Amino acid sequence: MKNILVTGGAGFIGSNFVRYMLHVHPEVNVVVYDKLTYAGRLENLQDVAEQFAGRYAFAQGDICDAQAVEAALREHEIDTIVNFAAESHVDRSIMNPDAFIQTDVYGTYVLLEAARKFGNLRYHQISTDEVYGHIHGDHRSLETDNLAPRSPYAASKASADHLVNAYHITYELPITITRGANNIGPYQYPEKVVPLFVTNALNDLPLPVYGDGQQMRDYQYVIDHCKGIDLVLREGEIGETYNVGTGEEMTNMQMVEILLDELGKPRTLIQHVEDRMGHDRRYCMNVQKLMDLGWEADYTHEEAIRETVRWYVNNPWWWEPIRSGEFKEFYQRLYGERKVIG
Ligand code: NAD
Ligand code: TYD
Repeated sequence: MKNILVTGGAGFIGSNFVRYMLHVHPEVNVVVYDKLTYAGRLENLQDVAEQFAGRYAFAQGDICDAQAVEAALREHEIDTIVNFAAESHVDRSIMNPDAFIQTDVYGTYVLLEAARKFGNLRYHQISTDEVYGHIHGDHRSLETDNLAPRSPYAASKASADHLVNAYHITYELPITITRGANNIGPYQYPEKVVPLFVTNALNDLPLPVYGDGQQMRDYQYVIDHCKGIDLVLREGEIGETYNVGTGEEMTNMQMVEILLDELGKPRTLIQHVEDRMGHDRRYCMNVQKLMDLGWEADYTHEEAIRETVRWYVNNPWWWEPIRSGEFKEFYQRLYGERKVIG
């Protein structure tokens, strides 16, 4: 692993991963390949571009464009592809699934074909706990569980996982997959629940909690996720999938209360609104397989939430321009007419 192509590297997790890898592995060069959709932002990598000028490069491109992908692989002598590029927001996938099928499924296929064509490059796929669907009882999803996605987003990511595994079995492509829990931390687009709620609260706007807010999620700090991906890239067994999360869970209401306490804002900002269609009630994964490789989370849920809140409080330069752009129209479409239920 010397020259890594990080697709979707200008997004939330991708940019944190790029920063992490360049800091921790001095022998590694990183090329970010990103289409720069609404979620991809060069500001996320501004410090990286300055600090690691000799080891970092950026190429704008679509993962669905085979020629452009191949040109990037050739030009930068890439030996490893890590695919973060995706449409990533469940609510947008409910409103308009088209781009999800295009990027998350077809785009993954294009990258796999390119990896094969260039002599079976090492390929790592960033997947999600959402491919398991919602989990019943006190079960924690195992990597061997059947996939049962329930939203267009989750279905597109599950389809990609199947393709990645098929390329390993059929063509012996050296792949690994990680399935991450809900990430939070710096540079997350404020459509996702934690940055949405922090930035709403900072503006004294209501926090739209879907339904009763008793849904369970594993809110992990993004750097813990990045460390897990790095470990799997180096030590993971080829052909294998690894869950990455804290293995713990909390309700959305618990998350909101910690968030408001950290901000010193009143609970009266909480507003229960009509639920998301097909809302998954619970995600929770067994992470023993990754822990057996030596991984451990550095942040509890509460620490991750408090750390994230502080980053948004200290970095309005990053999120204020976003909230006044494309985001406004999206917010109006999703929340404008939404029924308040309490
Ligand atoms: P994000 O939406 O913040 O970033 C996605 C990035 O992909 C953006 O930079 C965007 O410009 C780029 N992109 C989109 N379509 C592209 C295309 N066709 N070609 C090239 N680039 C394209 O997403 P994120 O939250 O950072 O998620 C990154 C990956 O991690 C995704 O694959 C997602 O499914 C997965 N994941 C996310 C979470 C989470 O909690 N956010 C959890 C587990 C897994
Ligand atoms: P989200 O950040 O969209 O991630 P995911 O759906 O991929 O888990 O949402 C996290 C949880 O927060 C999920 O249970 C839905 C809920 N949620 C709200 O209650 N209100 C909101 O406005 C949003 C965006 C999410």
